[in-house]
Amino acid sequence: MKKFFCVLLSFIVLISCKTENNLKISSPNKKIDLLVQTKSGAILYSVNFKDSTLIKPSNLGLLLKNSKPLNGNFLISDFKITNENTLWTQVWGENKTIIDNYNQLEVSLQEKVEPFRKMNVIFKVYDDGIGFRYQIPVQKNLDSILISEELTEFNFSKNFEGWFTPANFDSYEQLYQNKPLNEIENANTPITFQSENQVFVSIHEANLTNYADMTLLKNKEKDFSFKSNLVPWPDGVKVKTITPMVSPWRTILIAESAEKLAASNLVLNLNEPNKIDDTSWIQPMKYIGIWWGMHLGTHTWTLGERHGATTVNTKKYIDFASNNNISGVLVEGWNTGWENWGKKGAFDFVTPYEDFNLKEIAAYATSKNIQLIGHVETGGDADFFEENLDKVFEMYHNLGIKTVKTGYAGTIKTKGQFHHGQYMVNHYRKVIEKAAKYKIMINAHEPIKPTGIRRTYPNMMTREGARGMEWNAWSSGNPPEYYTVLPFTRGLAGPLDYTPGTFDILFKNAKNRVKWNDLDDGTSRVNTTLAKQLSLFIILYSPMQMASDLIENYENQPAFKFVKDLGVDWEISKVLNGKIGDYVTIVRKDKNSDNWFLGSCTDENKRELKIDLSFLDSNKKYVAEIFADGKDANWKTNPQEIQILEKEVDSKSILTIKLAPGGGQAIKFSPIN
Ligand code: NOJ
Ligand code: CA
Repeated sequence: MKKFFCVLLSFIVLISCKTENNLKISSPNKKIDLLVQTKSGAILYSVNFKDSTLIKPSNLGLLLKNSKPLNGNFLISDFKITNENTLWTQVWGENKTIIDNYNQLEVSLQEKVEPFRKMNVIFKVYDDGIGFRYQIPVQKNLDSILISEELTEFNFSKNFEGWFTPANFDSYEQLYQNKPLNEIENANTPITFQSENQVFVSIHEANLTNYADMTLLKNKEKDFSFKSNLVPWPDGVKVKTITPMVSPWRTILIAESAEKLAASNLVLNLNEPNKIDDTSWIQPMKYIGIWWGMHLGTHTWTLGERHGATTVNTKKYIDFASNNNISGVLVEGWNTGWENWGKKGAFDFVTPYEDFNLKEIAAYATSKNIQLIGHVETGGDADFFEENLDKVFEMYHNLGIKTVKTGYAGTIKTKGQFHHGQYMVNHYRKVIEKAAKYKIMINAHEPIKPTGIRRTYPNMMTREGARGMEWNAWSSGNPPEYYTVLPFTRGLAGPLDYTPGTFDILFKNAKNRVKWNDLDDGTSRVNTTLAKQLSLFIILYSPMQMASDLIENYENQPAFKFVKDLGVDWEISKVLNGKIGDYVTIVRKDKNSDNWFLGSCTDENKRELKIDLSFLDSNKKYVAEIFADGKDANWKTNPQEIQILEKEVDSKSILTIKLAPGGGQAIKFSPIN
């Protein structure tokens, strides 16, 4: 066994180890310190931020079903400190380039007593937080791994205020709650905390591969503490694997402000580089679709008088897209099986209804340079989809279709499996990998949460994994405050296919709605103003942005110009201001032009925000096309009133943005040549 000393590495400013069971590294800017210690054989980590304790010593370790616990009797047998400072380019994203700058501590542990098993914990400390993961190497006394519990703790130093959705093994579609940490029983990740003295923290995970989703459970034995609670297999085991094994990274984002928290790239940095050589076919896009009518109940997925996915209707959508600078058209309800909803084997994924001429439509779309977006609803029958992956993707590929939306509504048909367990984590990955072979992009609904896999597989474009627009069609919907929470919670994890863009906010043009969802009490509507709908295209990041209303509601609407002109791939994104649950303003610079776009929105309270335009190029003058709430707009009583105006501005201008209660504002800045 190696003996080790206090090493003074001149080029690494980070290390100040005292004894062999006490290691410390810091972030490159030295604001974050990570400490690792062994205490009576247990291994603990703690985190300081700006010299104050943020995370008190917290346990690490694993309980195994087929072997003794891996959490005690440990000795640090070795350690290694390295650092990295590189820049990488995204295929698409919020920012073109990303800095990956961290200090790493690799701690090798070995049991002092039989069976002398080995485990490593790897820590990376960035300026925007930390990540750590377990690694179990190949060894004589441990080959198959059955994790019955991951013992990772997060012991906060005090009672932070939290924003979270309650833990759920099958769905992330709950409303966000805002509670003091000690009143939170359980949560999905990302969960975000703030303290009155301006510390912002978010716990999540990165590179969730061949493992179960981590939820958090209140740790009743300690104050202000959570422990990891992994989603189980039907037999209660959480993770089934073999050595060598690595866990996903447990991530703790740390920032001085909500704006900085939202700008973090840590989750992406903790994923592996792009594995797809030729990425020319991977393209962000705007899309429309035959979709909202079914949620409203004016159309049906099933065949019949109100069938949405007909050849005639789809051609109208293709024409509208082609006339309005939109590249994609999604069609749902095009294939047989919707009448057998809920039954196993309901869908074969490939047979069109008789009023939908798939070949003719695909050829028509190609002739108009529009991409059809395929739809695979599994109804939870993931197994059957998995058996047919080649058949389904080959069909789409042969039709020239480059994007497929997948769905897993309902319980997973394989008995006892959850959407977020290891079994389904592996399924979702198989779909991405297989799709990549057929040059197909994926938009997953009822997905596993994003953990940065888009870096490795950039054909994993976007996903749901939050309460999307659909909830507004058939339930009490998403409250005004929701959109001021998303960028600081779910948005930290990755792109969201929210599908904003309802123009007929009160469904006045939706005649003859037929109730189909039990949550619909007849009072559904969208709980925002019209200008706020536009702002969401910028606020809620996705490389695929759906303008989700019926095209009739966009015809002759001046406000639709914002959607028509909107970019979808960004060179730079900046969060200009934000208070979680109150308001947020984000600007993004188009990767393919000199245009900037701004989205700003508020909760149920009206607000005035001063916006410094210093992000604009100081050598240029710009026209700002402003889509603002009308003078008397109010999400509740007067949601539709919008004001569209133009202004000349430059980088020295300060704009005053007036937001109505439940309102928002969207701006396009284009340079004057
Ligand atoms: C739920 C999805 O989120 C929604 O977009 C889709 O229309 C339905 N399932 C039907 O597949
Ligand atoms: Ca609020």
